[in-house]
Amino acid sequence: MTLILGRQDVEQLLTMELTLEAVEEAFLEHGQGTTLVPDRIGLFLDEYHGVIGVMPGYMEGMKAAGVKLICHHEENPKKHNLPASAGLVVYHDPATGMPLAIMDCAYITMMRTGAATGVSVKYLARADAQAVGIVGAGAQASSQIAAISRVRDLKKVKAFDIDSAATARLLEEIADLGLETEAVDSPREACVGVDILVTCTPARTPFIRGEWIEEGMHIAAVGADMPHKSELFPGVYARGDKWVTDLINQALVTGEIAGAMAEGAIGEHALYATLGEIVAGEKPGRENETEITIFKSTGMAIQDVAVAKRVHGLAREKGAGLEVSITP
Ligand SMILES: NC(=O)c1ccc[n+]([C@@H]2O[C@H](COP(=O)([O-])OP(=O)(O)OC[C@H]3O[C@@H](n4cnc5c(N)ncnc54)[C@H](O)[C@@H]3O)[C@@H](O)[C@H]2O)c1
Repeated sequence: MTLILGRQDVEQLLTMELTLEAVEEAFLEHGQGTTLVPDRIGLFLDEYHGVIGVMPGYMEGMKAAGVKLICHHEENPKKHNLPASAGLVVYHDPATGMPLAIMDCAYITMMRTGAATGVSVKYLARADAQAVGIVGAGAQASSQIAAISRVRDLKKVKAFDIDSAATARLLEEIADLGLETEAVDSPREACVGVDILVTCTPARTPFIRGEWIEEGMHIAAVGADMPHKSELFPGVYARGDKWVTDLINQALVTGEIAGAMAEGAIGEHALYATLGEIVAGEKPGRENETEITIFKSTGMAIQDVAVAKRVHGLAREKGAGLEVSITP
């Protein structure tokens, strides 16, 4: 039998604590070399300004396999009153290949993307980091702040979005965290006096400059996950002491990293480590109070599968979802 879980089921079962645990475990296995993360496939539907992505992943230690299918149709909210991103995680038994569960992927994506930033903050931000600046207040933003608040004693959030209504919405969404919040008027202001900077926009041209980055800052660059996207100017990478990523091949082709390399801000061998290698203890994370660290996040299916395994286990325990006989 296969369990079908809609977004509401997933939302009720999944907490940020569980997501952080699952995602850290996925990075650990990745660093230990016990994962399979084949290249993702994009079905680009240019006439609809959309893409349907297929992302498979397997973790040997966790005995978890699955595939995420996710669309990103940027005109959906305005044209169709639908979310830009939607899709499924199909969670499989690796031993038999049987589909154990089919679940909504949008909430999992948001939670695991926040958790990946949270793991990067745990290992790379200063231990006394208290203030976060965030640029981009869309679907991914609130879980970024929620995850960071679980791994650091967060006191303040400064947020900027080109759409001021989005900024206001984000500050409302995170109100229950009890943080001091400020809507600011520019990306530059979001960088002033913060210890951690998160960028999560679909921008095609960079908007964060190297000279705005202060000593000791950690940056999670989340939005530019594809060749046409870029948020950080090459000058940010030129100032970085350690740049780290999740999947090297995926990071190298993002507009941001390709641009930084083309301008000579980072050499071909400048990558310090994968986040997985740091979590697995292969290389140290932050080593002093002044270094500038950058996590270039692009997203890996094993993050989704690790979380789907937790959701499936909890759903079985609590009797959530709908059982369907897909395979007689
Ligand atoms: N790294 C990962 O694992 C991962 C996972 C999910 C999404 N993403 C990427 O993150 C980005 C954001 O995703 P989302 O789901 O939050 O999108 P979204 O469309 O819900 O929100 C994006 C927000 O960015 C704002 N924005 C756009 N350009 C801006 C700019 N130049 N300056 C400031 N604000 C700007 C928009 O007004 C909007 O509020 C996308 O590029 C998406 O592909 C990455």
